[in-house]
Amino acid sequence: MTTVIDSEAADHTAEADAATWWRQAAVYQIYPRSFADANGDGIGDLQGIISRVPYLKGLGVDAVWLSPFYPSALADGGYDVDDYRDVDPKIGTLDDFDEMVAALHAADIKLIVDIVPNHSSNRHVWFQQALAAGKGSPERDRYIFRDGLGENGELPPSDWTSMFGGPAWTQVADGQWYLHLFASEQPDFNWDNREVRDDFLTTLRFWCDRGVDGFRVDVAHGCAKKLDDVLPTQAELDEISTTDGNHPIWDRNEVHEIYTEWRQVLNEYDPPRIAVAEAWVASAERRARYASPNELGQAFNFDLLEADFDPEQFREIVSTNLDEAKIAGSSTTWVFSNHDVVRHATRYGLAPLNGRKVKQGREWLLSGGTLPLDVETGLRRARAASLFMLGLPGSAYLYQGEELGLGEVADIPADEHQDPAYFRNPGVDPGRDGCRVPLPWTRDGESFGFGSGGAHLPQPSWFGDRSVEAEDSDPDSTLNLYRRALALREELQAAESLEWVDSPENVLHFRRPNGWEVVTNFSTGPVELPAGRVLISSGPVGDTLPGETTVWLRS
Ligand code: BGC
Repeated sequence: MTTVIDSEAADHTAEADAATWWRQAAVYQIYPRSFADANGDGIGDLQGIISRVPYLKGLGVDAVWLSPFYPSALADGGYDVDDYRDVDPKIGTLDDFDEMVAALHAADIKLIVDIVPNHSSNRHVWFQQALAAGKGSPERDRYIFRDGLGENGELPPSDWTSMFGGPAWTQVADGQWYLHLFASEQPDFNWDNREVRDDFLTTLRFWCDRGVDGFRVDVAHGCAKKLDDVLPTQAELDEISTTDGNHPIWDRNEVHEIYTEWRQVLNEYDPPRIAVAEAWVASAERRARYASPNELGQAFNFDLLEADFDPEQFREIVSTNLDEAKIAGSSTTWVFSNHDVVRHATRYGLAPLNGRKVKQGREWLLSGGTLPLDVETGLRRARAASLFMLGLPGSAYLYQGEELGLGEVADIPADEHQDPAYFRNPGVDPGRDGCRVPLPWTRDGESFGFGSGGAHLPQPSWFGDRSVEAEDSDPDSTLNLYRRALALREELQAAESLEWVDSPENVLHFRRPNGWEVVTNFSTGPVELPAGRVLISSGPVGDTLPGETTVWLRS
C-alpha cells in the first residue's frame, strides 16, 4: 500500500518554462568573503567567484544565492549594508558584478542575491543623516527612534534584547534611542515610511536591470512593526503569540503589503524575478503566505535543518511541507546547512544531548569542540540525508562546502572571531564563524588554495583532506556524490510529487512519478535492498542496504 502526496503543480522537466526554473532548482549559497580570493587580500571576492564558475558548472547547480556583497563594515558579515546599490570595494566593483552575472549566465547558472530590508548599517547615508538631522526630523523617521524612559530619558524605551544578545536599543548623542533587532550597527528601518518602501523598490529594479534572477529576502518576517507608546517588557513580548499576525515585531499581517508591492516590481521583468523569504514563523501555514505567487513566491523551510537524523521526523516534515507548498501555489525548499548554523556533517556526528541537533552543535562549539564527535558517522549521515533531500520534489538549497562533506570548525581562537553574536553574548552564543571559514580548494599550500593572502578565519589542518583537489579524483568522495546526484536530478525532477512506499521500521522509501525511487536506511544495521537498479548511493551498497545509507533506484 502506498500513500500518495498529490501535487497539482504542473509537471516540470529540465527544460522547464523559463518562468518556473526555480521550482525545483538546486541553489548553491556562496558566502562571498569565504569562497575564493582572487586578489590575495585574505577576503573572498567577485573575481574569485568568476574564477570558480567552471567548478559550479561541473557541480551541476542551477543557481547561486549570493550572500551580501554590498559595501559594509562587516559588523555582521555583510548583513550590515552601507549602500544597497553598490559592491563592497573590498570584494569588487559593479563591473566585476556584471562580469560575474555574465559568466554565471553563460554557464547556464542563475543568480539570486541577498537583500536586507529589515535594517541597514549605521554607516548608511540615511542613518548618518538621521543622526545629523535630530529629533522629530523626516530623516529620523526612516528609522525607529524613541525618547528614553527615566527622568532624563537615560533609560532605553524598553528592556528588549537583540537577537545577538545585549540591548536592542542604543542611545545617540542627543539622547534619543534607536531600535536594532540585531547588532547596534544594524539600525532597523521604519517600514511605515514611504521613502523606505520606495527606495527598496528602486533597489529591486537596480539589480533586476543588472540581470539578477531573484532575491533572498533577509529577515522577511521582521519588517512591519507596531510599537505602541508604552512598550511591553521583553518578558511580555516573549509571551505574545506569533500565530495570528498581531505580534508587535514578528510576522505581522501588514508585512505582506510590502511583498505584494515587491511582486509587482518583480513581475515587470520577463521572466518574472523570483524571491525566497527567510521567515522564521510559527507554522508552515504562516510561512506559506510569504511564498504566495502574489508575494515572494517561495519561502525557506528550515524543518529538515532543525530535525534529527530520524525517519519519523523526516517523513512528517516532507509530507507537511509538500502539502503546504501546494496550498501556497509554490514549491517547497529544503536546506540542511547555511551560514547561520553548525554544518550538518558535524551536527549528525554529535552524541545525543537533550534537544535537537542544531542546539547540540552550539553546545559542541561552546565546548571548543571537546564534546564527543564521531566524524565518520556525521559524514555518513550527512551524505545519506543530502541524497535523500536531492531526491525530493522542490528546491534544494546547498551551502558552500557541504558538497565536500566539510565539517564545522570549532577551534577558532577568541581573538579571531568575527561574528557579533559571539561578542554580544559571550559564553552563551558560540557564534557562526565555524561554518564561515574560507573553503579549501587544494590539499595544501597557502590557505588551501583559497587565495595567496591567507584566510580571514583560521583553517584547521584537516581542511586539506576535504579540499576540492583531494576529492576531485576520488570516485567515492562527497564531491563526486553531489556531482552525480545533481546530474541525475535533472531527470528525476520530472514532476513535483512523490508517493511513499511501505517500508520496514527506520527506512523511508518514496517513488517519484517517473518511477525513480529513493530509499534511506536510518538505522545502523543493514536492511533488505528493494528491487531495482541502483543509480547512486551515498555509501557502499551490496546485496543489502547498509545502515545510514541512501540509494536511488530505478526499475
Ligand atoms: C542572516 C544572518 C544575519 C541576520 C541579520 C539573518 O537571518 O541569515 O546571517 O545575521 O539575518 O541580518
